[in-house]
Amino acid sequence: MLSLVVLISGGGSNLRALLEASEDAEFPARVVAVGADRDADGFSHSEEFGIPTFSVALSNFPDREAWGDAMLEQIQSWQPDLVILSGFMKLLPPRVIDALSPNLINTHPAYLPEFPGAHGVRDALAAGVTQTGASIIVVDSGVDSGPIIAQTRIPILPRDTEASLHDRIKPVERQLLIQTVLDIANGRIDLKELATA
Ligand code: GAR
Repeated sequence: MLSLVVLISGGGSNLRALLEASEDAEFPARVVAVGADRDADGFSHSEEFGIPTFSVALSNFPDREAWGDAMLEQIQSWQPDLVILSGFMKLLPPRVIDALSPNLINTHPAYLPEFPGAHGVRDALAAGVTQTGASIIVVDSGVDSGPIIAQTRIPILPRDTEASLHDRIKPVERQLLIQTVLDIANGRIDLKELATA
């Protein structure tokens, strides 16, 4: 059974999908804790499912490194097999990434390497392209630059707004994320191999 720590910053709809998937006794992973860099709205899902939460705000620390160390301590106290950044909107310092790599993955609402960063949906719309996507990657020290684990194309419709497009991307992200966790748990995906390829 794979133990997961999920980090969020916002509503946590992808987190909720994982929590719902974990209710199936056959699903080979369980969320053991949910962390955030703020009092995230998505904590309501963890509370509903009885999963512990932790919050480590950057503003409470003298610098990003000290914040990262505190976040890492919280994460490691749960001894997770895998850490999932699921709408976690802060960049983790390199030593946190080094400590968790390659068992640290991220969901992104674009077809990477297209449109990395905090505004993947908005940037795809602004670029005037006809399709975007959803990606799951291994986190490295760059911004959404790590090895791609899984991704799917999603068309952009003429009347799409950032909200309508993101609403169509999220269900695809959820499927990719759940399939990725399944594949990692049963050995079809080897993160170490991906990270060193
Ligand atoms: C998701 O679309 C996730 O890919 C994105 O934030 C959303 C979180 O939604 N992450 C990024 O843009 C990271 N660069 P949720 O809080 O409802 O799961």
